[in-house]
Amino acid sequence: MKKTLIVAAAVALTASVAAAENVKVGVVLTYSGNGAEFGQQIDRGMEIFTKLHPDALGPNTVELIKRDSKTPDGAVAKTLVQELITRDHVQMVTGFVFSPDALASAPIVTQGKVPMIILNAGTAWITNQSPNIARVSFSMWHSGYPMGEYAATKLACKTAAVGYTDYPPGKDSLEAFSTGFKGKGGNVVDAIPMGGPAAVPDFTPFFQRVKDAKPDCFYVFVPAGNHAAAVIKTYDELGMRQAGVKLIGPIDIVQDTKLQAMGDRAVGLIVAGHYTADLNNPANKAFVAAWKQAYGADSTPDFMASAGYDGMAAIAHVVKTLNGKIDTDKAMAALKGWTFDGPRGRVMIDPNTRDIVQDIKIMRVVKMGNRIGTELIDTIPAVKDPCKALKVGKCGE
Ligand code: PHB
Repeated sequence: MKKTLIVAAAVALTASVAAAENVKVGVVLTYSGNGAEFGQQIDRGMEIFTKLHPDALGPNTVELIKRDSKTPDGAVAKTLVQELITRDHVQMVTGFVFSPDALASAPIVTQGKVPMIILNAGTAWITNQSPNIARVSFSMWHSGYPMGEYAATKLACKTAAVGYTDYPPGKDSLEAFSTGFKGKGGNVVDAIPMGGPAAVPDFTPFFQRVKDAKPDCFYVFVPAGNHAAAVIKTYDELGMRQAGVKLIGPIDIVQDTKLQAMGDRAVGLIVAGHYTADLNNPANKAFVAAWKQAYGADSTPDFMASAGYDGMAAIAHVVKTLNGKIDTDKAMAALKGWTFDGPRGRVMIDPNTRDIVQDIKIMRVVKMGNRIGTELIDTIPAVKDPCKALKVGKCGE
């Protein structure tokens, strides 16, 4: 009898000690090259979430094992994910700035049976590639499709040209915008592939071709960063605004981190998307304030940082819900229908598609005193990825 009691007590003690688990999470981001700033933004977003929510993990801890995916072609990311799973024994993977990195990793997380939470990569059909993928960032259709409709109905554009970086999210953004625009009676007169994501091309010949065609609207997708800065510069230098061509696009073309340097050149642009640092909600106010305190008054979060924040919230939700014992099916079940009020407003993971549901804002770039900011002009509430809702191409598979 006495012996049984001692055994029972020992079991209880082990159980309570085991309740605090350490969960290993592999983080695959671009920490060098053209995308280095993207990796830093997402990292910092994750860090600020943790700082502002010290109790989010319950008694558990998360160990982030960070790896640099370097080039945006998927090759390095795929190897890293493989190594993280087999060698480092991570229980989840996250990150993925560029779509090819996420696409190349999809079969690995299916075979390795590990949950994967995407923090940027925007090609709509990535989430169709594995039941173990959930996305807290966006699909290119979240911004492209409503922007197409808005351009035709509210900006009075009858004709549009599209310029896009020639890889999966660019092709997606083209299709999304065109579908929305044509659906409201618009006519897409030209679609121009403008180089790849690894290096910033000279945009002049592409933009000159558009200036000569003189469409009412010019919708441009580039993968943010230095590409976006060059887009705004070229648009200005060619005098396209004065020629009557309205530049529009997803928020990627006016990334918060680049906006002050774009200066007056960006004023008046209309963009669609889910986040800018100027959003007026309590979670974003706290996020931006904590960010400036941590990284300097001149530093700003952008849409990538906001996904880092929400992504860390999603990871914490899984860890807490499963008491740190990560089982892939249970993790995916915990993510389905998860709702959170983050810097961009309320988000939810669609239980059917594992993609994000979020408000899409139409915004105008404006001068706010001596800085450049964004003004909210319209909100489309709780947008599910339109590509999957309309079952377009691979989104319908
Ligand atoms: C992507 O590769 O999916 C991607 C990269 C940068 C962006 C948007 C999408 O700004």
